[in-house]
Amino acid sequence: MIELPNEDLYEIIIRSLNRVNDLLVGHGERVAYGVMRLAEQDGRFSEEEIGQLVWTVLFHDIGNFRKTDTWNLVQLENDQDYSHAIYGFLFLKTFFPFSQYAPVVRYHHSTDAEIENACIEQKLKWVVKCLRIVDATDLFFVNNGRKDMDKVNAYFRNLSRRLFPAGLPLESAEFSIMRDMDAIHSRLLERIKHQVLSNVEKEALLRTLVCSMDFRSHYTALHCSMMVRASDMLADCFGLEQKVKSEIHIGAMLHDLGKIAIPIEILESPGKLDGRMWEIMKSHVMITEDILKGYVSDEILQIAIRHHETLDGSGYPRGLSGAELTLPQRIVAVGDIVSALSEERSYKQAFPLHEVMNILKQMCRAGKICPRVVQMLEEHCDSIYHAVLEKGLQAADAFEQIYAEYYELTQPEME
Ligand SMILES: [Fe+2]
Ligand SMILES: [Fe+2]
Ligand SMILES: [Fe+2]
Ligand SMILES: [Fe+2]
Repeated sequence: MIELPNEDLYEIIIRSLNRVNDLLVGHGERVAYGVMRLAEQDGRFSEEEIGQLVWTVLFHDIGNFRKTDTWNLVQLENDQDYSHAIYGFLFLKTFFPFSQYAPVVRYHHSTDAEIENACIEQKLKWVVKCLRIVDATDLFFVNNGRKDMDKVNAYFRNLSRRLFPAGLPLESAEFSIMRDMDAIHSRLLERIKHQVLSNVEKEALLRTLVCSMDFRSHYTALHCSMMVRASDMLADCFGLEQKVKSEIHIGAMLHDLGKIAIPIEILESPGKLDGRMWEIMKSHVMITEDILKGYVSDEILQIAIRHHETLDGSGYPRGLSGAELTLPQRIVAVGDIVSALSEERSYKQAFPLHEVMNILKQMCRAGKICPRVVQMLEEHCDSIYHAVLEKGLQAADAFEQIYAEYYELTQPEME
């Protein structure tokens, strides 16, 4: 279903990751570049494997999403907190198309001894060490005001000697390029551009991003999966052509991407949000637009950013009127509400089907949502509601599994 060119997919992912923490803008790309150069120089990886490694390293700090507000680089450099490495590993293991590389993320802040003793194949161990070195060097670079490249190179050499005492040929990851983000960006794009990625792999890359973001708050953990399911099923009921169905699918998947930049306190706030917090929450739509604009078709963009618009013009962010909202946009707006009503939120329980339908009909009478879509939903409400709940259960299982494995991996071993 995903017809995005590799470059656009890459931009969407990078632009999203760069919204997580101001200190980290460019970090993923710089580290991916460094590891890619080392792999290219080393010669043990095929072209295809290097492409897969680049994606893996771009995502290496994805487990950080839960603590964007308190996390800082100094803390990280002192190696005080590995939790994001474990979460990142589990996200990649669960959603990522190249999950064989997930262990690389798991050990990227581990001690030398832990890396040495890790039960992973030698090739992966080599990548872990490279990632460990390049990642730490980039944090050193950022913490030291992004200058004095001699010091940065010396830091890299020392760490390389420590992790590769037998003297692996880690001559350079070319850190002089670090200050030139444009060069790094185009080198990585060059690598990604010709990579053969199936639609399933592309969708899995987006899913890794979207699902890890949903995971930030357990109240929204299931939202995206359920919302996509509701929208897909409504699109099917209307018998829309394949191209439009695919636009709905991608638009729905990306609709709340901007929440990546919304603080967790707001996502998890119990009760009604106050004026200032509500404004911040609403800004997720404009952030989504900012991330996606120019990298998806206008049809997909408008589907993604109009899910809070209403027919009577009282929606946000633009207060558009019904005449401006197309059927696919109206479908996704209803899909969003169906999903939200069928989930537990910080301020409410999940609603049963009859209550979901009552609320939707009320909204319809109030001129908020499309009567045609609600009518279609009503005709197929049993199958759609159950499919949406089932999707929610599947997503819940995946997240529970992640929590359980996280707990297992972080418990001190019993005697
Ligand atoms: Fe990290
Ligand atoms: Fe990192
Ligand atoms: Fe939204
Ligand atoms: Fe939503």
